[in-house]
Amino acid sequence: PRIVVLISGNGSNLQAIIDAVQSESLNAEIALVVSNRKGAYGLTRAANAGIPTMTVTLKEFKDAGKTRVDFDLDVAARIKNWLAQSRSEADRSSNGTTAVDTPDLIVLAGWMHILSPDFLQQFPPGQIINLHPALPGAFDGAHAIERAFSAYKEGKIQETGVMVHKVIPEVDRGEVVLQERIPILPEDTLETLEDRIHKVEHRLIVEGAKAILSRSQASR
Ligand code: GRF
Repeated sequence: PRIVVLISGNGSNLQAIIDAVQSESLNAEIALVVSNRKGAYGLTRAANAGIPTMTVTLKEFKDAGKTRVDFDLDVAARIKNWLAQSRSEADRSSNGTTAVDTPDLIVLAGWMHILSPDFLQQFPPGQIINLHPALPGAFDGAHAIERAFSAYKEGKIQETGVMVHKVIPEVDRGEVVLQERIPILPEDTLETLEDRIHKVEHRLIVEGAKAILSRSQASR
């Protein structure tokens, strides 16, 4: 199976997927990594692992007077075209057509751009998953860890968590594939909480990918 990973920053979750593929714990190939930010360290991680990368920035579209949907559709087209042209020659000759391929799974790993329905409609439903460092419905959107830590300091919550969910147009909503609760401790700083959360993320994102790929294999 072929996976495409979308990133915006450090790429520690991408690294977890790379490591799982390399250790053969995850039976898949990362066919492409797409970043919406030049200089995202995750691009270096991909290059070091010999994985093709693309960078597409919203700024270049805005500067050209184009819209967010134009950006989204361009990213979708690049993914499909890359998958189609990188299919092995054998495949191409066997079925003759140059059918545009879609990946078996798209993973949003630290991807900080809300994807429009136009993007989602380019791919089979349920084939895009997102990692979000909060429990379902608790802290949708950006800065979820900081917001959870503040809520803890105000005595509103005692724990937070991480989830992997299927992507739908509503931000950080969609069917939950996996979730894990994480305690917040009295001695925690934002950094110690973030560290505990990231360790869970790195495990959950690989398990989430496995869950989706095994379902789609099973449904063959
Ligand atoms: C993670 O908490 C991720 O869930 C959030 O950004 C953080 C960094 O992710 N969206 P990564 O290290 O870039 O994978």
